[in-house]
Amino acid sequence: MSALVEAQSPIGEIKQKLETRTARIGIIGLGYVGLPLALLFSEERFPVTGFDIDPAKVETLNGGGSYIVRIPPEEIGHARQSGFRATSDYSQIAAMDAVLICVPTPLNDYHEPDLSYVTQTAKSIAPYLCEGQLVVLESTTYPGTTEEVLVPLLESGNDNSLRVARSPGERGFYVAFSPEREDPGNDTVARRDIPKVIGGVGSVALDLACAVYGSIFRRTIPVSSPAAAEMTKLLENIYRCVNIALVNELKQLCQRMNIDLFEVIDAAKTKPFGFQAFYPGPGLGGHCIPIDPFYLSWKAKQFDFRTRFIELAGEVNIAMPYYVIDRTIAALNDRRKALNGSKVLVLGLAYKRDIDDLRESPSLTIIELLRERGALVSYHDPFFPKVGRGRHYDLNMECATLSDLQQYDAVMIVTDHTTYDYPGIVRESQLVIDTRNATKGIAAENIVRC
Ligand SMILES: NC(=O)c1ccc[n+]([C@@H]2O[C@H](COP(=O)([O-])OP(=O)(O)OC[C@H]3O[C@@H](n4cnc5c(N)ncnc54)[C@H](O)[C@@H]3O)[C@@H](O)[C@H]2O)c1
Repeated sequence: MSALVEAQSPIGEIKQKLETRTARIGIIGLGYVGLPLALLFSEERFPVTGFDIDPAKVETLNGGGSYIVRIPPEEIGHARQSGFRATSDYSQIAAMDAVLICVPTPLNDYHEPDLSYVTQTAKSIAPYLCEGQLVVLESTTYPGTTEEVLVPLLESGNDNSLRVARSPGERGFYVAFSPEREDPGNDTVARRDIPKVIGGVGSVALDLACAVYGSIFRRTIPVSSPAAAEMTKLLENIYRCVNIALVNELKQLCQRMNIDLFEVIDAAKTKPFGFQAFYPGPGLGGHCIPIDPFYLSWKAKQFDFRTRFIELAGEVNIAMPYYVIDRTIAALNDRRKALNGSKVLVLGLAYKRDIDDLRESPSLTIIELLRERGALVSYHDPFFPKVGRGRHYDLNMECATLSDLQQYDAVMIVTDHTTYDYPGIVRESQLVIDTRNATKGIAAENIVRC
C-alpha cells in the first residue's frame, strides 16, 4: 500500500491516532492481566476504557481504588486523571479503536478448555463492532481459537453485517491474537520490556496490532498467524511445566538417595550454556502452568495425537501435594505422632512468593488433604486475612497469628513469602516441613526438606 493510500485508509487513520495518542483503547477483563495492560496504555497517555462484568471491580476502579495488591490505588488515580474509566456497558465498544480481550480461560471439571468467558465476550462485543476496529485476543488458549471460535462469533453477531478484513483493500474489522506473557511478582523485567508476540488474521490486522502494541511495548514479534502466536504461548508454559515436573520427580529420587537437589541445581546452573534452572516445589499453582498445557492436549486429540510429555508432567506435578503429605506423616511418625489429631500450621496460601493470587495454589490442596486425614489445620498468609470458598475449595478459615509456634506439631512452609523470618520460625517450631528450600543455610534437626 502506498503511503498516501495508507494514510487515507482506516489503518492509516488508526496509526495516526496512535501517534497523537488519541486512539481509544478498550480493555475487556480487568483482572491480573487486563488492569496492568490498561494502566500501561494510560501511562502512555492513551484514553483507556476498561470493561468488566464484575460491578464491584468497576465501582472500585471508578472510585480510585485497587483490588490487586501490587497495584497501589495511586496508580489508578493517575490513570483516572488521564481519562481511564471502567464500565460494564458494552455499547461503549463502538467508540473504541482497539479492543483487547483479557478474560479467563480456565479448565472445566473434566480438565477440558472452558472458553465460555471468551465466547461470552465475543457475543457481547459483536453487536457494537465498527469498520476499521481492531480486536485482539490475549487470553491463553489452544491454537485455532481466534480463527475458529472468536472470528465466527464476531461476524455472526455483528449488527452492521461486518466481516473480518483479511487482506489489504477489504473492508471490515481486524482481528489478531497476542498472548500475555507476564510473570507475576517478577520485578526484574518491566512489562514493556517483555516482547509482544502477535499473529494477525491477515497482514493488515498484523500490521495494525503491531502498531498498537508498538506504542507501549519496546519490541513486537510478528508471527505468521494467530495459531502460531497461540502455540508460542503454550510452548512457553509447557516448557516450564515439563521442566518443573522433571525436578519434582528428581527431588523424590534425591530424597531417597540422600542428595540435596537444590545444591545440585545450584551447581548445574553454573554451566554457562545449555541448562536453565527450574526448582521443585509442593505442586503447581497459578492460572497458567497447571492449566494451559491441557488446552493443547485437548486440541491434539482432534488430530488423533497424544501429547505424552504434557500428560506425564501433569501426572508428576499433580502428585506433589500428596508427596508433601506423605513426608509430613513420616516426619510426625519419627516423633511418635500421628497426623490425625496433630495441629499443623500452613505458611503461605498464595501459589507463589509475594503475590496475592490463590488460583490453583497447592496450599489449598495440601490443607484439604491434611483435613481429610484428621489434622487440625491453621494457616498464615500476609496477603489473605481470610479464605472462604473458590471454584475448587471450601476452606472457610481465618489467618492465624505467628505467635506461639510451639503449639503446632508441624509448621509447613508451602509458600516462601520473603517477609517470613525463617530462622525465627525454625527456632520456635517443633517441626518445620520446608517444601521450598526457604530454610536453606539453616542447620537444625527439626527441619524436614521435601
Ligand atoms: N495472571 C497471569 O499471570 C497471566 C499471565 C499470562 C496469561 N494469562 C492469561 O490471561 C487471561 C486472563 O487472566 P487473568 O489472570 O487476568 O484473569 P482474572 O480472573 O484475574 O481476570 C479476568 C477478568 O475478566 C472479567 N470477565 C470475565 N468475563 C468477562 C466478560 N464477558 N466481559 C468482561 N469482563 C469479563 C472478570 O470479571 C475478571 O475481572 C487468561 O487467559 C490467562 O490464562 C494470565
